[in-house]
Amino acid sequence: MDSIISVIGTYVSWDLKSLLLFAAVFIITADYIKNRRPAGYPPGPRGLPIMGNLFTIDQNRAHESMTQVPERMVVLNGFDILKEALVTQGDSLADRPDLPLQTDIAHGLGVFTSSGNLWKQQRRFVLSTLRQFGFGKKSYKGTCLLHSKPFDPHLILNNAVSNIICSLVFGHRFEYGEEKFIKMMQLFDKALQIEGSIWGQLYNAFPVLMRRLPGPHQSVKQMWNEVKDFIWVELNEHKNTWDPSETRDYIDCYLSEIQMNKGQDDNTFDEENLVICVLDLFVAGSETTSTTLRWAFLYMAKYPEIQEKVQAEIDREIGESRQPSMEDRANLPYTDAVIHEIQRIGNIAPLGVPHVTNRDVELGGYTVPKVIAQTNFQ
Ligand code: HEM
Repeated sequence: MDSIISVIGTYVSWDLKSLLLFAAVFIITADYIKNRRPAGYPPGPRGLPIMGNLFTIDQNRAHESMTQVPERMVVLNGFDILKEALVTQGDSLADRPDLPLQTDIAHGLGVFTSSGNLWKQQRRFVLSTLRQFGFGKKSYKGTCLLHSKPFDPHLILNNAVSNIICSLVFGHRFEYGEEKFIKMMQLFDKALQIEGSIWGQLYNAFPVLMRRLPGPHQSVKQMWNEVKDFIWVELNEHKNTWDPSETRDYIDCYLSEIQMNKGQDDNTFDEENLVICVLDLFVAGSETTSTTLRWAFLYMAKYPEIQEKVQAEIDREIGESRQPSMEDRANLPYTDAVIHEIQRIGNIAPLGVPHVTNRDVELGGYTVPKVIAQTNFQ
């Protein structure tokens, strides 16, 4: 009897081993076939099976954003090739990759991470509406940063920039001490921090597994839901006081656009999309602008002789009796150049935001094939 059991045991354990071996070989072969380098594709570092370059790229460097997508990536470097890709062939590279965490939050809506016809319509609308409200033209009331002692400008700048976006989209600012505003700022800060951490990267690399595992990545979705609720409250208040003949802000304009596009075949304007577009304006506009301003502070402190020249030009052209406005820009060439130089050297988005090809593209003598869309909506 013992010998029969031992024979069965040997048989079963051998069978299990071969099953595991077969599964491993099958998965690695399937992964190899799926991720084979296409003909004419640009050269690049070899990645591990399944993991790609997730753990082979230095996480402490800016390249980390490249590892958020377990797919093959092409990095373009230099003015000519970027102009070719983003301008000349811009239509073929206009789409965004399908990042599972982003998809679970935004469901393919909005303007920052959307693609195709939806992106085209939303982008056109956001650009024309922000221009209509003088974005990049007039001045927005900011915050006063007069301090007699050293202070950390981080949160003050974040609040000031976000409040300017509040006046654009909600038509009003918040008091800095207001509980609602503080809560929203904290949610943005924490959610973006987790999204940019290894948790966000693991979620995007292994969505099926990570959607089921507990961890900080789960609370990110809850945090964005709270921000969305905050925007819904503003939206409902706007609907109650909405007068199409007098548009006060981005939300009012969007409500008119929803009305105008009702019944059209390819219409992408609705309230869900409005909420995600507003969320995108905060995400795309706040951290970028406040981080650039922090670099500006640092460089002005490091190069006081340049700070003096900027100050002298502002004093000469604007004086102390009024706020600066965008109309002053033409008369402030030195200040304008310093701002551009801060943006260049601060280089806060060194890899930009990833794009994907929506058709086969020839770039710099290489062929980058169309990325087959894989929808991760749940
Ligand atoms: C210094 C400040 C800023 C920097 C460095 C910056 C940087 C960027 C970059 C690199 C992109 C990706 C472009 C691409 O698709 O290739 C982008 C897109 C975008 N930014 Fe900014 N941005 C800044 C300020 C703002 C502000 C203030 C807003 C609005 C309130 C804004 C709204 C957007 C939007 C909506 C997109 C998505 C555009 C699209 O996908 O078509 N950004 N930004």
